[in-house]
Amino acid sequence: MSIVIAVDGTAASGKGTLAKKLAKHFGFPHLDSGALYRLTALGVLEAGGDPANEADAVKAARAVDYARSADPAIRPDAVGAMASKVAAIPAVRQALFEFQHRFVETPPEGAPGAVVDGRDIGTVIAPDATAKLFVDASPAVRAHRRWLELKSMGIERLEADLEAELVARDAQDRSRAVSPLCQAEDADLLDTSNLGIDAAFAAALALVEPKVKGQLEAKPRG
Ligand code: CDP
Repeated sequence: MSIVIAVDGTAASGKGTLAKKLAKHFGFPHLDSGALYRLTALGVLEAGGDPANEADAVKAARAVDYARSADPAIRPDAVGAMASKVAAIPAVRQALFEFQHRFVETPPEGAPGAVVDGRDIGTVIAPDATAKLFVDASPAVRAHRRWLELKSMGIERLEADLEAELVARDAQDRSRAVSPLCQAEDADLLDTSNLGIDAAFAAALALVEPKVKGQLEAKPRG
């Protein structure tokens, strides 16, 4: 069994940044599962389809190419909101399940483990994950971080609008029938409201490292 670090959490909570840093620390590949839903939303848009239409959304999900996950076109919050819509369609989640499952079962390049961030990693994709974090922060702090991130990409938005959108997206993600956003029973909660990136990473590492070390020692590399 591979080592899996599941990093779930609310929108713009910093889970992606933490997941990337954890992946670098342990030398494991990182999967940004949110990018799969964002790419699905973008695919629907590019095809001139309707994100609420199941057939359009499933077609786009089946055509997702994770190699495009760094495409800045998937980052605007309008795409995030649309991603949350397609993510509520069970057949879309089903279409994206296999790729994620393979990533955690057999991490790329023979790595002994993987770090995956998202909403349902510790609950659905990897319920037996080695370590599970649930990352959260106050809506105001998350809106400020998203504002800074968008500003660095040349996108000017009002912080109050971003906060309202994040709260609405979390509500939608928490209330969907299939794979809702929720903290797994055995996940550690990490509230980063008062933590900068370095402090948040130190806190994450303190929670995760003992578990990963234990499994690395039990599992010979190769
Ligand atoms: O970066 P941010 O937290 O804003 O969002 P993201 O992780 O890129 O996810 C975008 C949307 O995809 C979320 O609002 C969820 O609706 C959906 N998603 C999901 O349903 N399951 C996942 N494992 C990851 C994302």
